[in-house]
Amino acid sequence: MSVAKKEYKRVTVKSLIEMKQDGEKISMLTSYDYSMGKIVDAAQVDVILVGDSASNVIAGHETTLPITLDQMIYHASSVVRAAKRALVVVDIPFGSYQGDSKEALRSAIRIMKESGAHAIKVEGGAEIQGSIGRILEAGIPVMGHLGLTPQSIYKFGTYTVRAKEEQEAEKLKEDAKLLEEIGCFGIVLEKIPAKLAQEVAESVSIPIIGIGAGGGVDGQVLVVHDLLGMTHEFNPRFLRRYMNLYEDMGNAISQYVDDVKSRDFPNENEQY
Ligand code: KIV
Repeated sequence: MSVAKKEYKRVTVKSLIEMKQDGEKISMLTSYDYSMGKIVDAAQVDVILVGDSASNVIAGHETTLPITLDQMIYHASSVVRAAKRALVVVDIPFGSYQGDSKEALRSAIRIMKESGAHAIKVEGGAEIQGSIGRILEAGIPVMGHLGLTPQSIYKFGTYTVRAKEEQEAEKLKEDAKLLEEIGCFGIVLEKIPAKLAQEVAESVSIPIIGIGAGGGVDGQVLVVHDLLGMTHEFNPRFLRRYMNLYEDMGNAISQYVDDVKSRDFPNENEQY
């Protein structure tokens, strides 16, 4: 089904708020390198997230904790060179903002200055209000991230659905309001009940982007390797795979190996 949407030469944080007001859903997808960034941008994805999920899908770590600020800046600058239309948002990695608000500001400035990205994303609510405030004061747009926050995985011990209990749901609602009040331009809600996510989306004027948070929010985000089926062992219920690249790429590469071994490649037309 084709969807009526406004043309944007460059998506900005203002465009996202406009999309929410117009009832146009926002598409967001990760990228970590130039080639993927080009494809994702050309497909008119509104927001490209240089997620710290690079730690998992690119570097092969079990969690997002090991990725460094320098590594995030490297990924982000590659994506920025590719993105002509999308807003590029970069995750501020674990260990680069929790110390104090000065450290948070320094890290955010490095991301913006060295990568050319347009905004940063931070995990957490009231606990890091001071750091978010300081970054916003410097004129850097900030996106929040609540619900399942993978940088706190060792505090929770599992990747199961968050905020099912009343107390956690109340705290999440308060944090969302707080992030709106202090000036965040949007919030990612990860793996929480759809009803709660919709309630949050209806209670704030900034866009709520969900991952595993149902369809009642203002937009959706996925990890591009999951959407394309490059990661085949990760099968959460919320994931819709549009391709099975793990298999297709494996088959293509096996064929190449066979062609080399059988001397079929290169043929006469593939040489000088
Ligand atoms: O790092 C990431 O890819 C993310 C998304 C899952 C929202 O934060």
